[in-house]
Amino acid sequence: MNRPLGMLAELTYRCPLRCGYCSNPIGRHSRSSELTAQQWCRVFEEARALGVLQVHFSGGEPLLRRDLPGLIAHAHRLGLYASLITGGQGLSADRLAGLVASGLDHVQISLQDADAAIADAIAGRAAVHQRKLTAARLVKEAGLPLTLNVVLHRANIDHTGDLIDLALRLRANRLELANAQYYGSALLNLPALLPSRAQLDAAETLVQEARSSLAHRLEIVYVRSDLHDGVPKPCMHGWGSRQFTVTPGGDVLPCPAAARIPGLDVPNVRQASLADIWFHSAAFNRFRGTAWMPEPCRSCPLKEDDHGGCRCQAFQLTGDPAATDPACGLSPHHALVRTLVQDAESTPDTIPYRA
Ligand code: SF4
Ligand code: FES
Repeated sequence: MNRPLGMLAELTYRCPLRCGYCSNPIGRHSRSSELTAQQWCRVFEEARALGVLQVHFSGGEPLLRRDLPGLIAHAHRLGLYASLITGGQGLSADRLAGLVASGLDHVQISLQDADAAIADAIAGRAAVHQRKLTAARLVKEAGLPLTLNVVLHRANIDHTGDLIDLALRLRANRLELANAQYYGSALLNLPALLPSRAQLDAAETLVQEARSSLAHRLEIVYVRSDLHDGVPKPCMHGWGSRQFTVTPGGDVLPCPAAARIPGLDVPNVRQASLADIWFHSAAFNRFRGTAWMPEPCRSCPLKEDDHGGCRCQAFQLTGDPAATDPACGLSPHHALVRTLVQDAESTPDTIPYRA
């Protein structure tokens, strides 16, 4: 069994933005249920002992945790690479200087669009985009590597070229253009978010051209939609294979959306060590390897490559988390995905918000 390389530390689900593609769990999230700084530090120690090399400080908005510098400092002392995944709101020069002094290694800032008015409309709040641009410039001035992340959906995918230009102007090291993943609010909003086949084709052509012409200036990562061409995604590189998520309340999950899978018996850092959870918990062992697979995955030559697709998507669409991912054209449930795509095509263009 592999040891994990990365840990997604979801410090809080609280967030000042309202993006309709949010994949976090739906509901109210209070500060009082979050792990304390002391508990997080113990989790980092256990993660490092388990072999973890990178911690992604995420959320919600991790900058809402005023104790973030202390958490980063502790991770840094343990030899963990500390990456901040933020919406960039509240990242002043002073705040960033404190994080850099604590040992922050890398910053990823999400953008909603290249156009300020559209970006603010998608985020559901005024002046969001301008604050993100300021934060991105501060990160570069501080000498840190900068990744820009854009969740692509129907309202912004036609601006892929402008997003690449903006990443160049901001001197980003890396641009992630990731088609929306449909969990949480994004699943509810899927009919309004899903792009058309023509939109996806145009964006992918632009990305391929930019990759060959900008190879030395900007790394472009493109996460394709798995709902349009019958090819499932190798979700998480396999269940319990490379990384895990710790939620604000201390639940430990093989992927950020797994809490919804029924009967998973989700382990928590308040009751068990990370090593115990990774190696021995029923939740992490449930879909490891290939023995759990039904047909057609069981006898499919691609099962070691795509791991049967995504367990959360299989549950959401079929009610059975062990089913072949309906995104796969060989799945007996693939018609469900074709219906989703057809329904989205007849849904009017609107910008939805987080539930
Ligand atoms: Fe992947 Fe299963 Fe589809 Fe084969 S049948 S391509 S293993 S999801
Ligand atoms: Fe949970 Fe794919 S998002 S397995």
